[in-house]
Amino acid sequence: MTIHGRTALVTGSTSGIGRAAAETLAARGARVIITGRDPAKAEAVVAGIVSAGGSASAVIADLADPEGFAVLAGLDDVDILVNNAGYYRFVPTSMTDATLFEALSGANLRAPFFLGQALIPRMIERGGGSVVNVSTVAARVGTATSAAYGASKAGLESLTRAWAAEFGPSGVRVNAVAAGPTHTPGTDAFLPVLEALTAATPAGRPLRPEEVADAIAYLAEADYLHGASLVVDGGASAVAPSR
Ligand SMILES: NC(=O)c1ccc[n+]([C@@H]2O[C@H](COP(=O)([O-])OP(=O)(O)OC[C@H]3O[C@@H](n4cnc5c(N)ncnc54)[C@H](OP(=O)(O)O)[C@@H]3O)[C@@H](O)[C@H]2O)c1
Repeated sequence: MTIHGRTALVTGSTSGIGRAAAETLAARGARVIITGRDPAKAEAVVAGIVSAGGSASAVIADLADPEGFAVLAGLDDVDILVNNAGYYRFVPTSMTDATLFEALSGANLRAPFFLGQALIPRMIERGGGSVVNVSTVAARVGTATSAAYGASKAGLESLTRAWAAEFGPSGVRVNAVAAGPTHTPGTDAFLPVLEALTAATPAGRPLRPEEVADAIAYLAEADYLHGASLVVDGGASAVAPSR
């Protein structure tokens, strides 16, 4: 599927990985819908894309709020859905109360599920489309502080495979990118931790949002990929630590 001329909704595109994904898709000719909760950040992203010659508009919506969710679920011209908006907190199980657990699963699994439920049938009516779910290496590699976050993203990757079975035959491909530690506004305060986590990997450094965005764009247009989780972790899960 070519990206050029398609409409792409990128959730959480006012910042970080989502912003980079929107900019990359726009540079490849998509009309992008920027969305998040912060109008000023959304307008700044739109202005940057438009000044670079791209096409973008903004929809302000809180995915955790039923009214905000309904605005996004009501869009009727989405060809590419990037479920990127997410929530991460790294704490042990003993410090994960029901409120935090529900916030993690609500942002990382519930919102993508119901957004896809609303938008994918319209993609099928329009002749097909593509969904890319943004996951994490924490979905497959356990750590002592990632139980609830990792489980929510593992659910998202399971959803990816089930949707590939359910919607692939109707022309909507569904894939995921499992990103390693990425330096974004959301993780900026933890940069030394990201650097320590990635120092011994072949890449030797944290991801840049643009590098996750390249993987998202690839998955959006790779015609034969269905139900894949593309691991973009600088080789961390592929090789033994070397330094
Ligand atoms: N950074 C990493 O190391 C890393 C690694 C692997 C996977 N990931 C995943 O990548 C995704 C993006 O992470 P990031 O580091 O780029 O995050 P970030 O810089 O903190 O940005 C988060 C984005 O999500 C939006 N968002 C959050 N909650 C929302 C809500 N309830 N409703 C609507 N929008 C909401 C924010 O919008 P506003 O600010 O406008 O509200 C913002 O645009 C997440 O799903 C995360 O789990 C991140």
